[in-house]
Amino acid sequence: DLWERRRLLEERVRAFPDFPSPGVLFRDITPLLKDPIAFRTVIDILEHRVRTHYPQIDFIAGLDSRGFLFGPVLAQRLGIGCVLIRKKGKLPGPTESVSYTLEYGQAELEIQSDALEPGEKVILVDDLLATGGTMCAACELMKKLKADILECVVVIELKSLKGAEKLKPFPVYSLLQYD
Ligand code: PRP
Ligand code: ADE
Ligand code: MG
Repeated sequence: DLWERRRLLEERVRAFPDFPSPGVLFRDITPLLKDPIAFRTVIDILEHRVRTHYPQIDFIAGLDSRGFLFGPVLAQRLGIGCVLIRKKGKLPGPTESVSYTLEYGQAELEIQSDALEPGEKVILVDDLLATGGTMCAACELMKKLKADILECVVVIELKSLKGAEKLKPFPVYSLLQYD
């Protein structure tokens, strides 16, 4: 069943030392995406999570770019829409933006100012939580639009970097955890 298939996921994430910079152990999800059963298992588990805990959800918000591999697929599965949180300079029209640092660099995230109405209920989706810099910036964008964050969802959580603490009080849900 679903929880047996979950064990397969651990075998579908590879670790590369010193990528993209020295000292970083990069968790590579490409084998997971290449295996249709593993990929479907991720979406099955996330669908189950949202349906059981957050039936009131209005939208999924996907984070550029690896969050786009999971967020829109999950939104389709749930029968709801997806809004895009993008790296700077990609979205037309009026935008809100927040700069941030992540495990190996710094960047800026944006959302269109009219992407969400105040009070709309959103789940943020990314592939991985490391320091939490990226997800925290996405939460700041939600605050600027006065949208309500139900949960921050990631496939992989790197526990030792304490991203979930940085995101408090917003809850974090992850499928796979590593030190
Ligand atoms: C990676 C990953 C997360 C983020 C996590 O994105 O996809 O979004 O880093 O790191 P943090 O918790 O320390 O912020 P990255 O910006 O490398 O690029 P990509 O998603 O466009 O591949
Ligand atoms: N994004 C930030 N840190 C990462 C890591 N260690 N592996 C993959 N993606 C990341
Ligand atoms: Mg990313």
